[in-house]
Amino acid sequence: MDFPIFHLDFIGDRLLIAMIAILHVLINHGLAVGLVPIVAYMELIGLKHPEWDTLAYKIMFVGFIITTTVGALTGVGIWLSASLINPYSIGSLIRVFYGAWFVEWMVFVTEVILIMIYFLTWKKRKANQKPVDELITKGRHVMIGYFLAVFSWITMAIIVAILGFMMDPGNWNNDKQFWNGFANPMYVPQLTFRTFLAYTTGGVISLCLTMFFTKKDTEIRIKAVRFLSKWIFTFLPLTLIGGYWYYTMIPQGMTDNMSVALGTQQFQSYYDSLILILCGALGAVLVIVGVAYLYPKYTPHKLAFFIPVLLMFALLGYFERVREFIRKPYVIGGYMYSNAVRVSDYPLLNKDGILKHSSFVSTKKVTEENQVKAGKNVFLIACSRCHTTGGVNSLVTKFDDMYGNSGEPWNAGAMKAYISNMHMSRYFMPPFPGNDKEMEALIAYLKDLQFNPAPAEGAQTIGITTEQEITSTSNH
Ligand code: HEC
Repeated sequence: MDFPIFHLDFIGDRLLIAMIAILHVLINHGLAVGLVPIVAYMELIGLKHPEWDTLAYKIMFVGFIITTTVGALTGVGIWLSASLINPYSIGSLIRVFYGAWFVEWMVFVTEVILIMIYFLTWKKRKANQKPVDELITKGRHVMIGYFLAVFSWITMAIIVAILGFMMDPGNWNNDKQFWNGFANPMYVPQLTFRTFLAYTTGGVISLCLTMFFTKKDTEIRIKAVRFLSKWIFTFLPLTLIGGYWYYTMIPQGMTDNMSVALGTQQFQSYYDSLILILCGALGAVLVIVGVAYLYPKYTPHKLAFFIPVLLMFALLGYFERVREFIRKPYVIGGYMYSNAVRVSDYPLLNKDGILKHSSFVSTKKVTEENQVKAGKNVFLIACSRCHTTGGVNSLVTKFDDMYGNSGEPWNAGAMKAYISNMHMSRYFMPPFPGNDKEMEALIAYLKDLQFNPAPAEGAQTIGITTEQEITSTSNH
């Protein structure tokens, strides 16, 4: 444990990564992967019918602006937030996927260059070109669109291998072979599901944009709506089939987390209704798109077409939350827990303690005098990736709820019994990683918080160790 700890006590560390990553996924799947093949196909039809070309260009304008700004920024943002909060798991993933990430970077750079060329040369014409030559130039341009679609898909395909690996590394845990990790059991089902999901989302976004970029009752609107609804009707059922296949591949222990993943502990009894809501959302998308298909002339107000987009975004975001949650207590299945401690390091840490093996803590050992301070360090190492002290998923609230919120000081013995076994009763939590003294220090810190709440800001207490503290710890 040789990195400083970064901790946001209000929104919690998990939410910081989630907000950036989910925004990125919406843009990547919806626009980069899903929208580009549609635009390229529309441009192809535009070779004969110029009004398709105009519409394709306008849709691509939106895709281009968003992917090259917010899309690119959030992509870097995932690296920033994930390596701030869990540099250990990023480190392990880089060790395994070193070559794959290198290739992904090359493909990504190509993708960026292609999107620049594709959008910026759309309207370029040579002076006095013959119509035949113009058609050839345009045909080449369409090809660039298709190449862009393929490259966008490949970057997703590489990253999905890593996401699948984090859920279930398969045989890699035994033989540590790269290809076993890459072609993990979740890989193909997840890639299939995400590909169809991306195409559906791209279709829904294009449909919405078409309503804004075409006029009522024009031929182009009617034809484009027909084409896009057929596209959505093709890929939505495939998404459901891919999703089901993916679901059946989720390892047994993880499906046990499903009810909490979908609705948090408080709402887990609503599990069945949540599944109904999910199906209802997909049904609503089908109805709106269906009406547009059957009655292209009487389409509802264009704002109504935002509803399928928002529903698809909600589904995609929700899916990401569930995927991230059911993997718990692991960040890399069977290899590293979400608290960033490797499974194989537990015996040593349970004996020696976690503080002794942490480079950036202000207390290397629990003593009578430093109990509360050491306990805070233990909290930051063992619990802060998932809990705060006073914000989202706050431990003060959790213990208050558990002990009836009576205002009585919590019972240290009961807390110790709970923490020693928390991974058995709540399988989404890893076991406590430290030794006995550290568990007592953690309890002392939490009991202190019960009456003196103070946010635990990571960098202030741990990241930047004061000089005096360095001298005192180096004496050990
Ligand atoms: C991998 C993430 C993770 C880690 C690490 C973690 N927890 Fe939790 N913990 C959770 C989640 C998720 C919940 C349930 C939140 C909800 O839905 O209510 C929870 C719930 C709890 C509860 C309430 C349990 C109940 O039955 O209501 C307590 C108490 C708790 N955690 C204590 C701790 C302590 C102490 C630590 C550190 C030693 C810790 N947790 C580490 C994820 C984690």
